[in-house]
Amino acid sequence: MSVGLIVSMEQTLAIIKPDAVAARRIGVIIARIEATELEVKGVRLIRLKKCEAEGFYAVHREKPFFDSLTTFMSSGPIIVLALEAPDAISRWRRLMGATDPAEADPGTLRREYGTSIDRNATHGSDAEDTAASELSYFFSAIELRQ
Ligand code: CDP
Ligand code: MG
Repeated sequence: MSVGLIVSMEQTLAIIKPDAVAARRIGVIIARIEATELEVKGVRLIRLKKCEAEGFYAVHREKPFFDSLTTFMSSGPIIVLALEAPDAISRWRRLMGATDPAEADPGTLRREYGTSIDRNATHGSDAEDTAASELSYFFSAIELRQ
């Protein structure tokens, strides 16, 4: 009997945040995504209302940075992407780097294009359940089918 490594296909939600869109980093960030195994399954430019940013980040409602985060996320257009690959959630988080650009590894997107912890260029889901709910916040089941 052969014992193989089973790697399941996963989808995750990525966002190019308002700072990176304003800095004209859409193209370079999508090029970095496409240079990996991550496949773009959905992509759209939108501008969130404050209440929509609050809904998206509801898990952080009690945090001291909730108001500034949701004000920032609704301050300009963003790019929402559905990404697919084996292990997509952690793969995308590795490409982004640590939440604080100052602590992110050299070459990661947040290190390259983020300027501070509250202007860190990109978002990524952190687990299977949050990926599913975050994807459904922006994309229909038809758009996401594999
Ligand atoms: O985005 P990530 O999952 O890496 O971090 P998080 O802990 O889920 O926080 C969500 C977002 O809140 C971060 O990406 C930051 O933009 C922001 N944040 C902040 O403004 N100040 C902090 N002290 C921590 C997070
Ligand atoms: Mg998070």
